[in-house]
Amino acid sequence: MLERATHTIKDLWSLEEGTEVSLYGWVRNKREHGDLIFIDLRDGTGIIQVSAKRENVPNFEKVKTIGREYAIFVSGKVVNDRRAPRGREIRAGSIEIVAKSEPFPIKKGAGKKFLLDMRHLHIRSIKVSAVMRVRSEVCNVAREWLRKEGFVEIHAPSIITMAVEGGATLFPIDYFGERAYLTQSSQFYEEAAITGLGKVYTLQPSFRAEMSRTRRHLTEFWHLECEMAFSTHEDVMNLEERLISHIAESISELEELSVINRKFEPPQRPFERISYDEAIEILKEEGYEIEWGEDFGAEAERHLSMMFDRPVFVTGFPKSTRAFYHMLSEENPEVTLSSDLIAPEGYGEITTGGQRIHDYESLLKRIEEEGLNPEDYSWYLELRKYGMPPHSGFGLGIERLIAWICGLEHVRDACLFPRTPSRVRP
Ligand code: 4AD
Ligand code: MG
Repeated sequence: MLERATHTIKDLWSLEEGTEVSLYGWVRNKREHGDLIFIDLRDGTGIIQVSAKRENVPNFEKVKTIGREYAIFVSGKVVNDRRAPRGREIRAGSIEIVAKSEPFPIKKGAGKKFLLDMRHLHIRSIKVSAVMRVRSEVCNVAREWLRKEGFVEIHAPSIITMAVEGGATLFPIDYFGERAYLTQSSQFYEEAAITGLGKVYTLQPSFRAEMSRTRRHLTEFWHLECEMAFSTHEDVMNLEERLISHIAESISELEELSVINRKFEPPQRPFERISYDEAIEILKEEGYEIEWGEDFGAEAERHLSMMFDRPVFVTGFPKSTRAFYHMLSEENPEVTLSSDLIAPEGYGEITTGGQRIHDYESLLKRIEEEGLNPEDYSWYLELRKYGMPPHSGFGLGIERLIAWICGLEHVRDACLFPRTPSRVRP
């Protein structure tokens, strides 16, 4: 049986000086000065200095054997001391070893690849923990907000048979002899679910067999997707703006951002809105070769993203750059009622959203135009036969949002165990 701890490290800063405490934690660092030992103790809630004097700690010789990453149980008094980080430390009365550690393989200055190979050990670093706390909070805040807005969380299957975002990035699986895939998006299931629930969202992994080795692509990412019945493209942009502003404001107050040295100012509202045509003009002026009807490409999008101090919606993408399900504009049927939301500072696309085709014949026509087999989309098409109203939705990549908020170099740094083309372990 483990002895009972009285506190965690985050509790210690508000306690009265002299309070007796006992707590568990891991040794981040140990320094010996003769009859005095300092330990930096972390427990997942924070970090505090522990000082152990030979005269106070009966098993001092044993304490000397403690090394980095040992799990220990410390009892002592909370004492203010200007020399300690944050002006406080624990003066130990006893320190017990709970679990020993071999010499820790991760040293200061370790390279990126080594750290990724050692991710199972590296995740105990203070910075990784801070990002994971931000990530958890982003999901909590999003869920709470969507619930208040009347959205119902649904859970869609991950094993599917339809390409939502084109065949090129599907992960095939052998489903007892039948060809199935890992889902790219829960959108089609949400479109079915809105007829029963009105407004729905999913927060679950999506998969893309995406060979692009960029800072923004994972093969498995967490996808927050919303879908609303009786709504337009305009409604969905407003929803995105309100949700993302709310998340940004809540998260900007977290202490974790200062742990990772990120100064994050929540963006001003309203977000910018420019048309695809305007974006093309801007990019041409900036020296990019890009023709109407083409996608921006990573570099051009990054450039665009650097030009604004807040997120910018790019609206009205040509249908040649979009999947078949996008609603076409009545004025110009070459253009879709859809948008990408581009985060600032070079982070680029964080959402794609828009209105869906709700009419059976129009959807069938688009499926055929794209050279797809209508049979593959039979149930999705059939939804259009039974009172399908105008509806719209969007998808947001959680890791991309976190990379922007936390100022991360690569989306994989927003994952506990990232999946990229070159990495399926640990
Ligand atoms: O732009 P995407 O492909 O749009 C869809 O999947 C729609 N069906 C969503 C919807 O309307 N319900 O993906 C949506 C978002 C992107 O904007 C991006 O943030 C993220 O998902 N995303 C990725 N994140 C990391 N790695 C990848 N390979 C990603 N692919 C998309
Ligand atoms: Mg997109």
